[in-house]
Amino acid sequence: MAFPSTRPQLGAPRPIGVFDSGVGGLSVLRALRARLPSERFLYVADSGHAPYGDRTTAFVRGRAEAVAAFLARQQAKAMVIACNTASVQAAADLRRTHALPIVAMEPAIKPAMHATRTRVVLVLATTATIRSPSVARLCREHGAGVRILLQPCPGLADQVERGAFCSPATRRLLHDYVSPGLAQGADTVVLGCTHYAFLRQEIAALAGPSVTLVEPSAAIARQLAAVLADAPPVSAPGAGTAAFYTTGARADLAAFLGAIGEPAPVCTLPEEGAFSDRPTAARPRA
Ligand code: DGL
Repeated sequence: MAFPSTRPQLGAPRPIGVFDSGVGGLSVLRALRARLPSERFLYVADSGHAPYGDRTTAFVRGRAEAVAAFLARQQAKAMVIACNTASVQAAADLRRTHALPIVAMEPAIKPAMHATRTRVVLVLATTATIRSPSVARLCREHGAGVRILLQPCPGLADQVERGAFCSPATRRLLHDYVSPGLAQGADTVVLGCTHYAFLRQEIAALAGPSVTLVEPSAAIARQLAAVLADAPPVSAPGAGTAAFYTTGARADLAAFLGAIGEPAPVCTLPEEGAFSDRPTAARPRA
């Protein structure tokens, strides 16, 4: 099977780079492709280093920079950080080091404020996102008069990486993370990690029809369309493409794409410039 080259294709329309710690951002990519069906997308799943949610800020920033550098070498004309954890920890750094427009995510706390009637909102996200200054700011700026329950969900993104959308272990985690908030009266649940969009059905079944689930991928697609409004035209209408790269096992991403009904070939991301937060042995001085 032929895989797309990792060299920028001369004369090809410049792509839009999209990345996540793994497969979660594919939920965002779906919305981007629906909104911009003529664009050429390059998706990077950093599954070899997922999950980001329990890692240090330095690690996440290093990984985001390594992936962004790859996308910049592919001449991306814009970049979407389809990951809340990477967005809240690394978007500011990436915007300083890369001149292209960068669209970043944050948990949809502001829209949730309009949706809630009980004035209790449950936010599900990774530990890193929940603890981030960005989430504290969102709560401060938009949360007046609303009880916001911030629920870190360790282990949940891993289940999605495995494609275990409705396994007993996933259901147990969802029960532990969602039920206490519902018991406190939450009628609105923010899916503050892109992986959780793939658990939407399970969460909706657990929460029941009176609970609204909020996630921002359609808003991110609108934002990207606005950013690109002045860019040169792309391919013929509807002729857009997507190429997929992973730092994990190619077969895993290919299997996931197949499972969500979007089969496609997958390439391995070249790992030069890869970042690790593991200490390296000190080199003897020359
Ligand atoms: N998909 C990522 C997010 O939106 C995080 C999952 C992880 O790597 O922990 O936050």
